[in-house]
Amino acid sequence: MTNIILCGGNGTRLWPISRTLMPKQFVKLFDDKSLFQLTVERNSKVCDSQFIVSNSEQYFLALDQLEELQKIHNSYLLEPVGRNTAPAIALACMALEPDELVLVTPSDHLIKDEVEYEKVLRRAKELAEKNNLVTFGITPSSAETGFGYIEADDLTVKAFHEKPDLNTAEKYLEAGNYYWNSGMFMFKAGIFLEELKKYSPKIYEMSKQALANEALTSSKNTIRIKHDAMLNIPEDSIDYAVMEKSQKVKVVPSDIRWSDVGSFDSLYEELPKDENNNTTNEKYIQIDSKNNLIYGNDRYIATVDVDDMIVVDTGDALLISKKGSSQKVKQVVSEIKKTT
Ligand code: GDD
Ligand code: MG
Repeated sequence: MTNIILCGGNGTRLWPISRTLMPKQFVKLFDDKSLFQLTVERNSKVCDSQFIVSNSEQYFLALDQLEELQKIHNSYLLEPVGRNTAPAIALACMALEPDELVLVTPSDHLIKDEVEYEKVLRRAKELAEKNNLVTFGITPSSAETGFGYIEADDLTVKAFHEKPDLNTAEKYLEAGNYYWNSGMFMFKAGIFLEELKKYSPKIYEMSKQALANEALTSSKNTIRIKHDAMLNIPEDSIDYAVMEKSQKVKVVPSDIRWSDVGSFDSLYEELPKDENNNTTNEKYIQIDSKNNLIYGNDRYIATVDVDDMIVVDTGDALLISKKGSSQKVKQVVSEIKKTT
């Protein structure tokens, strides 16, 4: 089985830790490892190779970090410009044998129960071998609007709803037979491509052309797509392009302690904490302060009588936010873009 690892995102809600040239998946957030490295380690137990789909800037970050793990035999597909996940996955699948089983995973998620994860993957494999598109369902804990929702009847998916509005998400939560889509998928490369061709034929055709016109293959394991050819592929996510439409979607319930580490609030939940529920940090001094996320490198950070705050210091930037408001951090990035 091949692990297609999607690395194209920028993770703007984790600014200033996550930057265009050092996006969140490559930042060493946990035990001196990055989410990308943890993804590779986790999936190497069940997949025999990694197929990394990223842009050229992230290529060298990925290479370096894989070398640190001593994983040097990988394939790469480099996008000159991102067109979202449907083209990224399509291009990778087209470069593989149709019968090859693939596990598609983001590079920026955390899975804490790896024993359960391996069991879940085994269940998924049985379904994927029978020509299904398998999704991994997480029991929802709130009416998140940034996720896809899987309406399930046992393992069968009745419908897939990508990013509903708040009202709809609340109804899904109440109904009880809905899962969050974790953003991971398992299928045979050829079955995914059949479904893509059926439901989003333009993405299929243009991806085929882009691969046929493939530019400068620097080595046999690195495919570089030409800029114009990439721009010709319509932009869309796998969720809208295929999952909402296909009749072959199955779901495996996945109680794997999953987090997409999508904001500082969710990062806070995952980091180790001291007896005052502040995240542990050698250079942090707290006086009567609790429940704070404190993230810094070289400088001392001190708080006095301060609770429920997010303080992130990267030397060249300082973020101070109330806990619960960290979804708005991406607005900071938009403001900075306007001024630079
Ligand atoms: N190579 C490549 N190229 N990777 C990409 C691109 C691209 O153009 N766009 C996004 N990615 C990567 C991101 O880095 C991330 O790892 C993954 O693909 C998913 O993209 P996101 O942009 O993070 O998607 P999302 O969070 O809005 O929604 C998806 O994930 C949710 C769970 O976290 C959907 O699948 C939802 O249904 C799901 O609930
Ligand atoms: Mg995401």
